[in-house]
Amino acid sequence: MNRELLKSVLALGVVASIAAGVVAAVHQFTAQRIDTVQREARGRTILELLPQGSYDNHPLEDQVSTLDPKLLGRDEPAPAFIARRQGQATAVVLQPVARDGYGGSIQLLVGVTAQGRLLGVRVVAHHETPGQGDRIELGKSDWLHGFDGRSLTDPGDNGWKVKKDGGQFDQFAGATVTPRAVVKATHLALQYFDAHKAQLLNAELAPAITGDRHE
Ligand SMILES: Cc1cc2nc3c(=O)[nH]c(=O)nc-3n(C[C@H](O)[C@H](O)[C@H](O)COP(=O)(O)O)c2cc1C
Repeated sequence: MNRELLKSVLALGVVASIAAGVVAAVHQFTAQRIDTVQREARGRTILELLPQGSYDNHPLEDQVSTLDPKLLGRDEPAPAFIARRQGQATAVVLQPVARDGYGGSIQLLVGVTAQGRLLGVRVVAHHETPGQGDRIELGKSDWLHGFDGRSLTDPGDNGWKVKKDGGQFDQFAGATVTPRAVVKATHLALQYFDAHKAQLLNAELAPAITGDRHE
């Protein structure tokens, strides 16, 4: 290989390495940015689920690790967020995943009062079909509000199904798979709460915010 050719090959190698580095850096920056935006959106939704005046702590930082990830449709535990007033837990927000959506997993937030009543259910991420399963989004229909105020005993076990399966929750016209998955995951989240409420409600205040309570 003559000298000129070698120089060109080396120059090309340097340019390619720099380009690869820039692409990797942009990719990492974008991934971090997406992660931050998603976290912030999740944080806002968690706080929206908790009634004003029901907490004087900082629920987003007051986290308890969950014990039985399978019941919440997860492989790994995800934290529960605790709302407290004067040190007493008033509500918990769980992060279950409905794994059997039409398009795959549906990530949920489920708010439960200390007494076990649902404050509400919200969809954080999903891959359901636009115009069919995506009616689980609050911006597209009111369907999710059908869970407000429900509990493990209201309805009883048999009611925790879509109407087509003999339960009490509406399905969508031509789309039963998605609501069925969300009803099941919400029911399981309530079972999780019932089984683990002592751990959730009596957990020590997260050390990170001790002395940093929000009024
Ligand atoms: C292209 C396509 C997309 C669909 N997307 C959804 C969806 O997002 N959610 C859903 O529940 N059903 C969806 N369906 C309909 C389901 O396949 C199913 O027929 C319906 O949910 C009724 O389910 P069931 O027979 O178990 O009651 C889709 C069907 C097709 C052909």
